[in-house]
Amino acid sequence: MNINADTRLYCLIGDPVSNSLSPDIHNYLFDRENINGVYMCNRIEKENLKRFIDAVKLMDIGGFNVTIPHKVDIMEFLDEIDENAKIIGAVNTVKNIGGILKGYNTDGTGFVKAIKDRGYEIKGKKIIILGAGGACRSIAVELASEGAGHIELRNRSIEKAQIIKDILDVNFEISVSISSESVSKEDIENADFLINTTSVGMESDDCPVDAGISVSSDTVVYDIVYKPHCTEFIKWAEKNSLDTIYGIEMLINQGITAFEIWNECIIDKETAKELREMIVNKSRNKYKNNI
Ligand code: ATR
Repeated sequence: MNINADTRLYCLIGDPVSNSLSPDIHNYLFDRENINGVYMCNRIEKENLKRFIDAVKLMDIGGFNVTIPHKVDIMEFLDEIDENAKIIGAVNTVKNIGGILKGYNTDGTGFVKAIKDRGYEIKGKKIIILGAGGACRSIAVELASEGAGHIELRNRSIEKAQIIKDILDVNFEISVSISSESVSKEDIENADFLINTTSVGMESDDCPVDAGISVSSDTVVYDIVYKPHCTEFIKWAEKNSLDTIYGIEMLINQGITAFEIWNECIIDKETAKELREMIVNKSRNKYKNNI
């Protein structure tokens, strides 16, 4: 990294930001793509969001990512918001276009990119999503936007699933069902994708499905939890010979997508592969988990 008078600043804001892997992702890409930028983390409290926005404009910061707890609150300070981010109701990426700040949500697009990169189709597919929090909302909107055939939302609090169903019903031509029941063998076998967006399994050995269920189908299992790298849910899927997508893919791809928006470039497959290896190693050292 060669910081000089022309280096453009990018950053992550949130509270906290200390364990983020985003600087590793973006500084690797700046270096690899030979773009004169640097990425830092800033802990910003909610009452300072407006001052931060003023600083972005004053210092001509190229763009920034937004994490918990500011993904919704930041929206009122932006000049433009991408259509799907508006539907999701949250922004995790902002681009400074000559002083105009435009918000995007790359959580869902990064999630979907990982599916497409693996060669899977989304159009017309039957998808079960476990959970109904913020992550589910961005993922469900992007899947609907990609033409998914049916989305079934499973969440222990049915009211939260209903809110997301209402958003999908209003904005997309898609059939959506909701349930608070846990998934059965038949449910899984009838689904093309089974996605965990709950926090179950995060830094624990809990599994969001009954690990005693055994299935025989082509269902693709995608866990958005990435700490540990190989969750109990992924282990269960692999035991059942199901194809799997690990949570780290969503993390990396939301970063790649943000980088592509900021720098109007496309990250090729080889660079993405090398980035993935670097991040998986880094994550293993950082969290000393069971990668
Ligand atoms: P995020 O914004 O990262 O999606 P969130 O909004 O806190 O996080 O959502 C977490 C999801 O995990 C929620 O759907 C939550 O279920 P509730 O809506 O019923 O709270 C789900 N979740 C968390 N712990 C869970 C558990 N032990 N069992 C089942 N679902 C759980």
